[in-house]
Amino acid sequence: MSKEQLDHLLKKELVIPPPEEFVKNANVKDYEAEYKRFLENPEKFWEEVAQQLIWFKKWEKVLEWNYPYAKWFVGGKTNITVNALDRHVKGDKRNKVAFFWEDELGNEKVVTYGELYRLVNKLANALKRAGIKKGDRVVIYMPLVIEQVAAMLACARIGAIHSVVYAGFSASALRHRIEDAEAKMVITADVTIRRGRAIPLKQIVDQAILDLPTVEKVVVLRRLRPLVDLIGEKEVDFYSFIENEPDYCEPEEMDAEDPLFILYTSGSTGKPKGVLHTTGGYMVGTYYSVKTVFDLKEDDVYWCTADPGWITGHSYIVYGPLVAGATQVIAEGAPNYPDFGRWWRIVEKYGVNIFYTAPTAIRMFMRAGEEWPNKYDLSSLRLLGSVGEPINPEAWLWYYRVIGKERCPIVDTWWQTETGAVMITTIDGLPMKPGKAGKPVPGVIADVVDKEGNPVEPEKGGFLVIKFPWPSMMRTIWKNPQRYEQYWNTIPNCYTAGDVAVKDKDGYIMILGRADDVINVSGHRIGTMEVESALVSHPAVAEAAVIGKPDPVKGEAIKAFVILKAGVEPSDKLVEDLKYHVKMELGALAVPSEIEFVEKLPKTRSGKIMRRVLKARELGIDPGDLSTLED
Ligand code: PRX
Repeated sequence: MSKEQLDHLLKKELVIPPPEEFVKNANVKDYEAEYKRFLENPEKFWEEVAQQLIWFKKWEKVLEWNYPYAKWFVGGKTNITVNALDRHVKGDKRNKVAFFWEDELGNEKVVTYGELYRLVNKLANALKRAGIKKGDRVVIYMPLVIEQVAAMLACARIGAIHSVVYAGFSASALRHRIEDAEAKMVITADVTIRRGRAIPLKQIVDQAILDLPTVEKVVVLRRLRPLVDLIGEKEVDFYSFIENEPDYCEPEEMDAEDPLFILYTSGSTGKPKGVLHTTGGYMVGTYYSVKTVFDLKEDDVYWCTADPGWITGHSYIVYGPLVAGATQVIAEGAPNYPDFGRWWRIVEKYGVNIFYTAPTAIRMFMRAGEEWPNKYDLSSLRLLGSVGEPINPEAWLWYYRVIGKERCPIVDTWWQTETGAVMITTIDGLPMKPGKAGKPVPGVIADVVDKEGNPVEPEKGGFLVIKFPWPSMMRTIWKNPQRYEQYWNTIPNCYTAGDVAVKDKDGYIMILGRADDVINVSGHRIGTMEVESALVSHPAVAEAAVIGKPDPVKGEAIKAFVILKAGVEPSDKLVEDLKYHVKMELGALAVPSEIEFVEKLPKTRSGKIMRRVLKARELGIDPGDLSTLED
C-alpha cells in the first residue's frame, strides 16, 4: 500500500470485513447471535461454559451479586490445575506439546502436557513439604521459562496464592510487593537473559528481602555455571528442592471463590495495588475467551508474546490456553535480539497460527522495515491479536498487511489486570475498524457514559464502564477493600475502568487512553505518583511532577519536571543520577525519558500538582479550566 493510499484510508472510516475463510471455520460464527444468547440469560450462558470443565462439586448458584461484590459459581469446588493439566493428561493430550520454549540464541526446550504435569506436581509436593499451605502467599520473580509457569501452577495446585512480579522490577518495587502480600516464599532464578546480558535476579531478591521477616524460603532456579551460591537453610536450589518428590500431588479442593493470585498494578496513588483474582470465575472467563476471541482449535500453535509477570501472561499464557489445552510458544528475551528477524523466525519455525502481541512491538518492527518479516514464511498465521494500549491505524494496517498478509483478522483486545479477561474486541465474524477495539465480547456489557452514568451520544467522548458483573472480574484489592469499592462507586451502578473512550454509531468502542494519572508506556501501566515519589526520595529533589507524552514507539513516554533543593545545581550528570535512582526504586520501565528542571510547578490552591496543565503546556494544547490554579 502506498503512503497516499494509506492516508486516504485513514481519512475515511475504514471497515475491513473478516476473511471469509476464517469466518466459515470460526468457533463463533455469528457475534450478534452469541451476544443475544448471553443477554437473554447471562447465568445460563456462563453456566454452559463452566459445564465444559471439571468440578469436584457443582455450584449451587451461578451468580450472587451483592453490589459491588460478586460471587460466581457459588458453592462450586474445583482446582484450576486439574483443568489445565489432569484433564489433558488423563484425556488424549499426555504427549501433546504444551510449550515450545526458546531463548535469544535459539536454544530450545519442548515440554509436553505430561512433562509439565509431573514438574508441577513435584513442585507442589515440595512446596507443601516446605510448609506452604492453602492461602499462603508465594512471590514468583522469574524469567520467562517453563519453571516460571510451573511455579504458578504448583501454587494453584495446593491453593497457595501466587503473586508474580515481572523480572524487570527493581529490588525496592519487589520488596514492596513481598511485604504487602506478606509472602512466605520467593521463587526466583539466578538470572534472566535479555539482549545477551545476564540480569542477576537472585541478587535483586537478596536485596529485596533483607530483614523481611515473613520470607522463610527462597527457591532458586540455577541456570548458569558456575552455580550461584546459596546460603544457609533459607535458600535452596530449584531442582534439589523437587528432586525426591512424588510425581503426583493431590489437588487442593478450591472453592470457586478461593483466591488464585494477586497481581500488583499501578493506579493513581504512590503505591501499586494488589488485584485479587479467584478460582472458578477466572478459569471460566479466560477459557471462554481463548476459545472465542482467539478462536483456538485443537491443532493450533499459539504464541502470546507477553511475560507471565503481567496479566496478559497470566490469562493468555498460563491459565486460559492451558485450560483449553493449547500448544504454545514462549520466548525469553528481547523481540529484536540478536536481530529484527527473531520473532518472524520463530513464527516460521513452529508454524505459529495465532499470534498475540502489543502495539509497541508492532511499531518497533514497523520502523525496522518490512524486509525483516518478509524474509520468513508467515503463511501459518491465521489470527493476530493486539493488547495493552490503543493501536494506531497505521500500525494496525501494517500488522494486517505485512504480518497477516491481509488474510488474518486482527483482534484488538481491550481489557485490564482488573478484568482478568478480554472485554472488548471484534470476535470472529465482526468487521474490523482499525484503531477501534470493537464491541463488548459476549458476556460483557460495556458502555461509554458521562460522570452520572448516562450513556453519551455516539461519537462523543466519555468514561468507559462495565455495567454487569462478569466471571473473571477481580474480587477485591488485597488488604484494601475501599480501593476496590472505588471502582464501583465512582460512577453510579457500574465499574469504572479508568479509560476514556468513544462509541461510534455502530457500537464500536475506541479507547482514547487513561482518564486518571496513569501513564501507559509500551503497554505497561506506570503511576505518575509512583515515579514522583521515587524522584522525591532522591536527596537533590524538592518536588517532582510527572506526565505522559506521546511517543511514536512506546505509545507514551515519561517526562518529569523537577524542582531541586536549594543549593543544588542542575546538570546533565544529575539527570543521569535521577534516572538511575528511579531505575533502582522502580525498575527500568519507569525511568523518565526526559527530565526538566523547573523553578515552580502549577498547583491548585490546595496544593495539588496540576499535571494536566504541565501536559497541555508541553504539548501546546488547551489546558482547559484553570480556575483552581494557584496563580
Ligand atoms: O488503558 C487501557 C490499556 O491498558 C490498561 C490496562 O492495563 P493493564 O491492567 O496493565 O492490562 C494490560 C493488558 C490487558 C487499560 O485501562 N489498554 C489495554 N488494552 C488496550 C488498552 N487501550 C487501548 N486498546 C487496547 N486494546
